Amino acid sequence: MTAAASLVPHHVAIVMDGNGRWATRRFLPRVAGHKRGVDALRACVRHCGERGVRVLTVFAFSSENWNRPAEEVSGLMELLAVALSREVPQLRAEGVRIHFVGDRSALSDKVRAGLAQAEAATSANTRLIFNVCFNYGGRWDIAQAAAGLAQRGEAITESSLDKALALAHVGDPDLLIRTGGEQRLSNFLLWQAAYAELYFTDKLWPEFDEAALDAAIADFGQRERRFGKTPDQLNGRSAAQRAA
Ligand code: IPE
Ligand code: IPE
Ligand code: MG
Repeated sequence: MTAAASLVPHHVAIVMDGNGRWATRRFLPRVAGHKRGVDALRACVRHCGERGVRVLTVFAFSSENWNRPAEEVSGLMELLAVALSREVPQLRAEGVRIHFVGDRSALSDKVRAGLAQAEAATSANTRLIFNVCFNYGGRWDIAQAAAGLAQRGEAITESSLDKALALAHVGDPDLLIRTGGEQRLSNFLLWQAAYAELYFTDKLWPEFDEAALDAAIADFGQRERRFGKTPDQLNGRSAAQRAA
C-alpha cells in the first residue's frame, strides 16, 4: 500500500442526501427512507471509528428543511427523538462523543432535553467526535457567530469568527462527502469547507455502506492538498532543483 492510499482523513463531513428517492423508488413513504438513513448512519459511525477517523460531522436537518411538508418534518423530529433514546447507549459504549450543532430554539422541549442528555451521557468519550448538524445552516452559523462578537464588542476577524462558530470545538473538515448525486453544499459548512476535498457519489444515503466509505477515503488519499501553494513547494523542491 502506498503512503497516500493509507491516508485517512481526520475529519469527515457528510451531506446525507437521497433518503426520499430511496423510499420513492420502492413505493414507500419518504419517512421510510429516513428510517433507513438512520441505519446507514449507525453503520457509518462505527466504520469511521474503525478506520481511524477522529471527527465525523453529518448534515441531518437543514434550516431550509422546515419548508418540507408538515408530515415529513414531524416524522424527522420523531425519528430524531427515537434515535436518541435507542442509539445513545451504544455510542457511549463505542467511545463516541456526540454534539448537536444548530439552532435549538425552534425545537420542542422534548427534543431539546434529549439532545442535552445525549451530549452529557457521552461527554467523557474521546475516540470519535460525532457532530450532528440539526436545524443547521452555514449562513445561520456565520450570522450567529458575528452577532455574538458584536454583542460582546469584540473585533470581527477570521480568527475570532472561527472561534465563535458552532463547530469551534473541531478543526475544519478534510473530506466532505455528498451522497445522492447532487453537487452542491446546500448551506452546509460554508465557512469550514474552504479547503475540504469534495467527494460526490450517486449512491443514495441508505445505500452508503462500508465499501462506499472506503472508496471515498481511498479517493481522498489520492488528492494533493495544496492550500494555495505550488506542487514544488509541497515536495520541498526549489524552482532551480526542478529545472536541473
Ligand atoms: C436527505 O434526504 C435527508 C434530509 C434532508 C433530512 P432527502 O430527504 O433530501 O432525500 P431526497 O434528496 O429527496 O432523495
Ligand atoms: C441537504 O439536503 C440537507 C440534508 C442532507 C440534511 P437537501 O435535500 O435538503 O438539499 P437540496 O434541497 O437538494 O439542496
Ligand atoms: Mg435531498
